[in-house]
Amino acid sequence: MNNQLSEKLFEEAKKYIPGGVNSPVRAFRSVGGNPVFIKKGIGSKLIDADGNEYIDYIGSWGPHLFGHNPDFIKNALLNAIENGTGFGAPTELEVKMAKLISELVPSVEMVRMVNSGTEATMSAIRAARGFTQRDKFIKFEGCYHGHADCFLIKAGSGALTLGTPTSPGVTARNAADTLIADYNNIYSVKKLVATNKNQIAAVIIEPVAGNMGVVKINEQFLKELKQICEDENIILIFDEVMTGFRVAKGGAQEILRVKPDLTTFGKIIGGGLPVGAFGGRKEIMEMISPNGPIYQAGTLSGNPLAMAAGYAALTYIKENPKVYTLLEEKSKFLEDGFQENMKSLGKKYVFNRVGSMMTLFFTEQEVNDFNSAVTSDTELYGKFFHEMLKMGIYLAPSQFEAIFVSTAHTKEDLENTVKAQFEAIRAVI
Ligand SMILES: Cc1ncc(COP(=O)(O)O)c(C=O)c1O
Repeated sequence: MNNQLSEKLFEEAKKYIPGGVNSPVRAFRSVGGNPVFIKKGIGSKLIDADGNEYIDYIGSWGPHLFGHNPDFIKNALLNAIENGTGFGAPTELEVKMAKLISELVPSVEMVRMVNSGTEATMSAIRAARGFTQRDKFIKFEGCYHGHADCFLIKAGSGALTLGTPTSPGVTARNAADTLIADYNNIYSVKKLVATNKNQIAAVIIEPVAGNMGVVKINEQFLKELKQICEDENIILIFDEVMTGFRVAKGGAQEILRVKPDLTTFGKIIGGGLPVGAFGGRKEIMEMISPNGPIYQAGTLSGNPLAMAAGYAALTYIKENPKVYTLLEEKSKFLEDGFQENMKSLGKKYVFNRVGSMMTLFFTEQEVNDFNSAVTSDTELYGKFFHEMLKMGIYLAPSQFEAIFVSTAHTKEDLENTVKAQFEAIRAVI
């Protein structure tokens, strides 16, 4: 594979952009080597600066549920741009968008649009703090909720990949209000609640963890977590930035049948453009400015291009419930193929999947929390990643991320991926 242009661009990029990238995990640090620079995405494929083609399983880190640049989103954007790129004043589309989100995710009685997942989660925490008049909140080790100061404590995703779960620049006082519990371990939550009585504003959780690799939630754990929140007047926040509209039309809360107080969104909700949202119980959301005293704002929030792309994506989901059957079929095909490969290669690596998000962990120990996730052989993953890349399969450049299947992945893509996986694992073990 010729990577000459990508290499050249990366050398240039490093002079002007920290690490040569605008978000750390793109830099391939945890798998070694240099990133490829992408020129174009069409359907399930990415084409890099040197013209190499890849079957893409990152999908811009989750937003591309329908693959790259589907006609219905492209057309919505082309139509919207005719009217201008932003007004800083309300538009009809924002009303339609809010109504549609509320219809698809019934726990969301009111919603505010923002520009990223990070903005959504940090605003949800502020709303919970303002509403309860309490300062502390609980997050789970290995969960990632964006890069706001209060979340960069034992965080997953890029923070985990780089081995800097607590970032310099986050003050000790800020960190002191973030309490850390273990995913799927209700005793760790109970202990924190008991020792911080009436001080905890919120519990924020990825209802399917995706940022320490995919980890399923234990339903009994979640039931008890919900009960604790109710008993202690703690706001339960589902961070559905990754799972929202990914694992089901109504997000993870639909399949888990648990209603959080607040939910955060990102990724798919923007149809590929920079969008986030937070919403939930009316009495909490009514406290957001200008109705209430909890300040939250954004120059570009509800931007008409972003709304056009996001509304097109959500409308497609609403009108085509078969999307999720299709995603399940495709994803199961990959899982079955991968499992078959591992059986014939005599390996018992763990494969965790929820709908179209999944992770192959290079460990033979069950993965149900952060501590078990990090038993994975990350060096082996790095080698596997590069073998796959050489064969034209673009996976997440870190063991601790999800890969995503889209409706655009064809049978041929999936078959080729299973074949490549067999060759790649055989080559690295
Ligand atoms: C669960 C979750 N929450 C929050 C975020 C932050 O979103 P953004 O990168 O758009 O700020 C992410 C990003 O990957 C995420 O996966």
